[in-house]
Amino acid sequence: MKVGLVGWRGMVGSVLMQRMRDESDFAHINPVFFSTSQVGIAGPDVGTGETILQDAFDIDSLKAMDTIITCQGGDYTKEVYPKLRASGWDGYWIDAASSLRMEDDAVIVLDPVNRHVIDQALADGVKTYVGGNCTVSLLLMAIGGLFEKDLIEWVSPMTYQAASGAGARNMRELISQMGEIRDEVASELADPASAILDIDRKVAEKMRSQDFPTDQFGVPLAGSLIPWIDVPLASGQSKEEWKAQVEANKILGTSDSQTPIDGICVRIGAMRCHSQALTIKLKKDIPVAEIEAILAAHNDWVKVIPNDRELSTQELSPTKVTGTLSVPVGRIRKLSMGPEYISAFTVGDQLLWGAAEPLRRMLRILIE
Ligand code: HSE
Repeated sequence: MKVGLVGWRGMVGSVLMQRMRDESDFAHINPVFFSTSQVGIAGPDVGTGETILQDAFDIDSLKAMDTIITCQGGDYTKEVYPKLRASGWDGYWIDAASSLRMEDDAVIVLDPVNRHVIDQALADGVKTYVGGNCTVSLLLMAIGGLFEKDLIEWVSPMTYQAASGAGARNMRELISQMGEIRDEVASELADPASAILDIDRKVAEKMRSQDFPTDQFGVPLAGSLIPWIDVPLASGQSKEEWKAQVEANKILGTSDSQTPIDGICVRIGAMRCHSQALTIKLKKDIPVAEIEAILAAHNDWVKVIPNDRELSTQELSPTKVTGTLSVPVGRIRKLSMGPEYISAFTVGDQLLWGAAEPLRRMLRILIE
């Protein structure tokens, strides 16, 4: 299978390349690397011989591919995909960008959760497969078991989303902000006799000052938070909040009878792990032990953490989870609202299960 790779040098693309190397995916395909800027020079060596970068805007070169996998972003998809399909190309298009997600002829891929939807789509001749929004994919990896058993009446996810979801430049800005804050009070920190409220005042002044680096986020994130992600919609939701219900139900194949999923999405100063505090209304009263067993049995990556202080602080931690495929879910307990109401807290790497991993797994399904 000739597989064209586009956008493999960006942040999501680099994570995808690393995962494909780790899983020896390149041994099963004939990779062709495309570039939007550097054409004709040597491409990466992935163990399949010399590669030369092709022009990612050249429809004829793209047409020669059986499958194209792109992490180049939504603008690229919007420009190239319609032209490529209009040219008669009938190959598989696997995309990390959101542009095509809600199209009727596109399937959102998250195979540990919706392999049945993917298999049906393949049988029906669907050729466009798109990765889901990161918070949505991570939510379903965490509580897919309860959806599978049709036990959920509704979910309210309150998110704690990492800087990486906003982009590589935003991650750099977060670290710069952290450094600026620390540098501002370095001498006071070194003096154990200095007054904490003086330190706090200096920090707040620094964070509010004109020279604090906020070009990317617009406001301070380090030492603070941002309770809005993506553009506003008429419903009062942010677009990130709107995606939860429509995308999750599309992934699950339940768009015609949607389970309500809605909450507030918040950016916090984590690097690349999104966390979510969930309030779930179950369709019936089930013991916590049974809920935990259902969650744990759903897929190989979800990890149920007992509702214990030490284990929760150690395991439900962006620092612990970052760079791994593990999706811990814990803090599972009955809420005081009634026996059908439970809480849960989950953490996941938004560049792995949240972006790159479902794409490479879709490729593997195609070459099975
Ligand atoms: N929109 C997500 C975020 C990342 O801003 O965190 C991509 O799904």
